[in-house]
Amino acid sequence: MIRFDLERYTNIKDFDIPYDDYNNYLNRIINTNSFYDIDNLFDEELIYKMQSLSNEIKKNNGVLLIVGIGGSYLGSKALIGSLTNYFDNSNIYYAGNSLSSDYLHDLLKELEGKNVYLNVISKSGSTLEITKTFEVLKQKVREENIIVTTDKYSPLYNLAIEKRYNLLEIPKTIGGRFSIFTPAGLFPIIFAGINVNELKRGAKDAILNKNYIIKYAHVRNELFKQGKKVEAYVCYEPKLEAFLKWLQQLYGETLGKNKKGILPMTILNTTDLHSLGQFIQEGNPILFQTVFKVLQSKNDIKTKNKSFSELNTIATDATLRAHLKGNVYSNLIEIDKLDEYNIGYLTEFFLLSCYYSSFIEGVNPFTQPGVEGYKREMKEML
Ligand code: PA5
Repeated sequence: MIRFDLERYTNIKDFDIPYDDYNNYLNRIINTNSFYDIDNLFDEELIYKMQSLSNEIKKNNGVLLIVGIGGSYLGSKALIGSLTNYFDNSNIYYAGNSLSSDYLHDLLKELEGKNVYLNVISKSGSTLEITKTFEVLKQKVREENIIVTTDKYSPLYNLAIEKRYNLLEIPKTIGGRFSIFTPAGLFPIIFAGINVNELKRGAKDAILNKNYIIKYAHVRNELFKQGKKVEAYVCYEPKLEAFLKWLQQLYGETLGKNKKGILPMTILNTTDLHSLGQFIQEGNPILFQTVFKVLQSKNDIKTKNKSFSELNTIATDATLRAHLKGNVYSNLIEIDKLDEYNIGYLTEFFLLSCYYSSFIEGVNPFTQPGVEGYKREMKEML
């Protein structure tokens, strides 16, 4: 169960949104874009293929090394982080998400003696971090242990065909940050043991809840008009931290262009109440928040008076109240528990609402000329 409260902790109350008009627009988006075609994305044959590959790795006591950056790794990290136990994923590693030589060196040492399966994920197949990391790593693993996830028109695709690597395809029409429900996100999460059927059920239900998809987009736009230039995604459960990082990328790259957009950032509480709390409560009033409140823990630990879950809930409510008193506004999203259904729901909710926001802002959601700019400069300097 997910409950959106976009009024109690904001100053936006009787908000007049012509839902019917916007619903028509949203329906058009849904019907014309393949990344909302959930049935097609969760195609049974494709899921079976990924499941078999994952079973084979496990049967061979393998570890999975995911090589990706931006939209090619943040999605799987978000879902794995939210839906698995804290120390359960010692058989999943990440690389290619920086150019740190020390990281790569230490990772190679850590992987010595392990049966490494390399999942290189890149839609374009030409991102520098990925190609360079792959250049080093492919010499360290057996060719049959390489799994390439890419677009049919990328150079990586041709290489995979030539070398007979395992190959998973990212549909041409789905861009990096929207690719969470393609093999870019789905293969790693299947390996992590996440129930994709429940994820799919949640995603499909989110599409039905169009009014909140529309409302959230308009509320953040209203807050922006009031001078709130920053949106902080806030959680009190560290498992959601990677999910917030995924949101940061989704909103940042999709809407931050043409000198427009709200700057997204992430806050992990109660940790950051002891670092950023002061600024948020009393500093420059440029920020509003979207707060994720998880109602139940999987395992609640008791203390003398209150359990940890109860303390965390009280901390969330107390902070929301304090912030409201200081005119710091918050959208509240209550999640009864972190499970596949709820996370699938939230993922699709934000994919759609973010895309819908590009309509309000009047920007093209699928480009990232700023990112391309840095890539170009880098290539030139090399
Ligand atoms: O959302 C995007 O399009 C980007 O963040 C890309 O995912 C990122 O730049 C990596 O690109 P690629 O998957 O082509 O290597």
